Amino acid sequence: MRKVILDCDPGHDDAFAIMLAAQNLDLLGVTTVGGNGYLENVTRNALVVLEKIGRTDVPVYPGHAGPSTTPLVIADNVHGKSGLDGPVVTPPIRKPETKHAVDFIVETVMSTEHVTLVATGPLTNIAAAINREPKIAEKADALYIMGGGAYAGNWTPAAEFNIYVDAEAAYKVFHSGIPIYMVGVNLTRQCPVTPEFIERIRSIGNTTGVFAAELLDFFSKGGDVHLHDPCAVAWIIEPDIIKEAFLHVDIELNGTLTRGMTVTDLRFLQTDKPEADIDLTSTYKWNDPPVGSPFRGKEPNVHVGMRLNYPRFCDLVVETLEKYK
Ligand code: BDR
Ligand code: CA
Repeated sequence: MRKVILDCDPGHDDAFAIMLAAQNLDLLGVTTVGGNGYLENVTRNALVVLEKIGRTDVPVYPGHAGPSTTPLVIADNVHGKSGLDGPVVTPPIRKPETKHAVDFIVETVMSTEHVTLVATGPLTNIAAAINREPKIAEKADALYIMGGGAYAGNWTPAAEFNIYVDAEAAYKVFHSGIPIYMVGVNLTRQCPVTPEFIERIRSIGNTTGVFAAELLDFFSKGGDVHLHDPCAVAWIIEPDIIKEAFLHVDIELNGTLTRGMTVTDLRFLQTDKPEADIDLTSTYKWNDPPVGSPFRGKEPNVHVGMRLNYPRFCDLVVETLEKYK
């Protein structure tokens, strides 16, 4: 089992990321960051989820309340006032750890072989950890993020929420040299929350299944919602569940319309071939462009998730939830 630290802002879809990681990976700790909700709320929500699934052995470390250079933007329109509206829950019995998330990340990565970082919220804590100890970018096996998008955003036309909230942190992380596996909205839109999927989860019949279904009842109220964050964890558990393209990605900091965009270099696709005929994940690679392509663009630095095996993803979630009480 791969050793992971999950940095998150639960968040309905973050809750599913926690549930997948706690069952299928060696989850060394959960760290929290202001994002979908305020730090106090997302930290409580992480404790609630871990208590619900009977994993009170997993420590929770609160991190930064928000970006250091810009005001925090929260997504209470998506996740409700508590950050995890829907199921009725009692306050967690457990308290978070007193150690700061950034200290935990730095100390754990530096003292442990083969730690993989996963970030499903704004990259504030991860950037702060790299600032504190740049060697973690070499020492960690990889960083899997839910954030950005190869073609478009969701919070703005250009930017996805997690990157938009702390674009400076994302810039720091994307320029740190840490191997990045990016699950952006181009990938997570292939992971819709359907009524059938919710009922399949509810019919598992255990406490965790009911809790998970109630989370999705609330989350899907507005329609057109997707389970973004667990896709990043699923990619670690089953590397074949996502097909990737290795591409150059950089973060826009200054655009008046495009701040927080993950600018993805797809220039090698400019060809007379219709785009629909181009299979990014298997036919053409950056160093093997389509015939007639005039550019190769910049050298790749990010493994960009392009295609999700959605039926397998749904099975993985259900199989995981079945194993809880
Ligand atoms: C991301 O933003 C948050 O609302 C979700 O938890 C996910 O991490 C999707 O843009
Ligand atoms: Ca999240």
